[in-house]
Amino acid sequence: MTKVVAIYGSPRREGNTALLLRQAVQGAREMGAEVEEVVLRDLKMSPCLEIYECKNTGRCAIQDDFQKVYDSILESRGLILASPIFFYAVSAHTKILMDRCQSLWVKTNWLEGRRDGQSSPQRKGLFISVGATKGKKLFDGTLLTVRYYFEAIDCELWKSLLYRQLDFEGDVLKHPEYLEEAHQAGKDLVRAIDEE
Ligand SMILES: Cc1cc2nc3c(=O)[nH]c(=O)nc-3n(C[C@H](O)[C@H](O)[C@H](O)COP(=O)(O)O)c2cc1C
Repeated sequence: MTKVVAIYGSPRREGNTALLLRQAVQGAREMGAEVEEVVLRDLKMSPCLEIYECKNTGRCAIQDDFQKVYDSILESRGLILASPIFFYAVSAHTKILMDRCQSLWVKTNWLEGRRDGQSSPQRKGLFISVGATKGKKLFDGTLLTVRYYFEAIDCELWKSLLYRQLDFEGDVLKHPEYLEEAHQAGKDLVRAIDEE
């Protein structure tokens, strides 16, 4: 069964990204995927402390909830990451997870010696984000971060769903077409993985 990890990066449980991600998760499940939901705000996760024990073992030395997420990502074929825009970047919860995944980058690139472009990525990723404003550059910095993060965990940025002018909890409910797009993207992601 295709395993997908869905990462909720907003501190708001019923916020706009959460509602969109829930739709994508439902779509992925409808296609038969096994989806593990990771709610970052519920986890105890230290930021990266640059101990670099991962250079020896391929794993992070910090014993906290990241260890399980690391295993889940390794076992997955698909990733759905949802984060609101906070100061033109991902949320702090999301960034902490990203930095801890440096251990995965070290494992594949330094320990296993895989060079960029040697093989096609192991995973496909869907990124969902929202912001309050309507600026043209609202997602520019974040997309750079997400693209590089996905690359570090051997994941192709398969699709991004980016929505402007969503601020208050539930604003996305005024746009059923966004929710439908997320639902469809969850289905299409699993289809794309299965067709490979
Ligand atoms: C700390 C913080 C920083 C924010 N920074 C931005 C920003 O730089 N640009 C923007 O358009 N919206 C910004 N927002 C608004 C959120 O992106 C917006 O409220 C979004 O709908 C929250 O997503 P959620 O409902 O999934 O939590 C910020 C909100 C917070 C709390």
